[in-house]
Amino acid sequence: MTDLMNNPKPLRYLSGVQSSGRLHIGNYFGAIRNQIHLQDSGDCFYFIANYHSLNTIQDAPELLKLTFMAAADYLALGLDPKKAVLFRQSDVPEVTELAWLLGTVTGMGLMERAHSYKDKVAKGISPNLGLFCYPALMAADILIYQSDKVPVGQDQVQHIEMCRDMAGYFNRAFKKEVFKLPEGVLSETPKVVGLTGGKMSKSDEASVIPIFGEPSEVKKKVMGILTDSKGVQEPKDPDENVIYLLYKLMAGPEERVRMEQGFRQGGMGYGDAKKLLAEKLEEVFGGATREKRKKLEENPDQVEDILVEGARRARREAAKTMEAVYQATGIPCSKIKKAILDI
Ligand code: TRP
Repeated sequence: MTDLMNNPKPLRYLSGVQSSGRLHIGNYFGAIRNQIHLQDSGDCFYFIANYHSLNTIQDAPELLKLTFMAAADYLALGLDPKKAVLFRQSDVPEVTELAWLLGTVTGMGLMERAHSYKDKVAKGISPNLGLFCYPALMAADILIYQSDKVPVGQDQVQHIEMCRDMAGYFNRAFKKEVFKLPEGVLSETPKVVGLTGGKMSKSDEASVIPIFGEPSEVKKKVMGILTDSKGVQEPKDPDENVIYLLYKLMAGPEERVRMEQGFRQGGMGYGDAKKLLAEKLEEVFGGATREKRKKLEENPDQVEDILVEGARRARREAAKTMEAVYQATGIPCSKIKKAILDI
């Protein structure tokens, strides 16, 4: 009884990951590790954002493969489907309907301020409506499950702010508290440096270390990290050093100090540091974890079953919110609509 009073309903955590490329260790340390950790305390809903991925992948077999791989990665990394709900975004198509409805109360000004949109345009990508509306679909993803917390990496913080804005516009426009205002949760390392010095990002293949790359590929990528030409004995600044910054994410305290001091005082060469980093990656993501990943890849039906069961649970939650949305807006949930939505 006291337990019930102290811990009322567990918080609902929701997050998504795009399947627009292989998941990399920036995704892992920036968000996935924390998301999986939360499955022991929260009511967690995680999905593979395959609608969002269509903005960059226009190749059906490739999108199907990447979506499956992202799900298998989460499971191999420790997501337990008995504790957390794992599903595909597209198995709850109601989110696209909600994104439309949010669009009807959202000003262009808010959308035009989105950093990720502006960055892509600045890079010369010619934007389509999907890219522009990306934050509205993401807001729908979050709001449809009445999420309390959204564990993400640094790059998604503004999108969550926009989601809160849209929830507020909607509640005010229709004079009903239909949506809860969610909060972002950052991991300890919300931004992970990439091999090319900037942020590790799927859109720059040279910057990433894939979580489940072949050992030879991972090693080659690590050994290929560009450095300056300082010799072994020369002192170097570890905080400016990609090798150390990545090693630090995985190393124990003693190992970490050894590399840090070796760089600072001299004695640690780039070649040796790269070897240590490659070994550490193998230690963390190789062995039993890689084996588990391989087994899942060999049993796609098992992954599919988990995703379908996850979608069933997710849709039950989404249906409750959509009922309130229909009532608030005056969109009738007619017999035919109920049949389409299977509720
Ligand atoms: N935009 C997120 C990313 O690129 C993926 C995403 C889509 C998401 N919908 C979401 C994350 C809802 C959190 C909540 O990683």
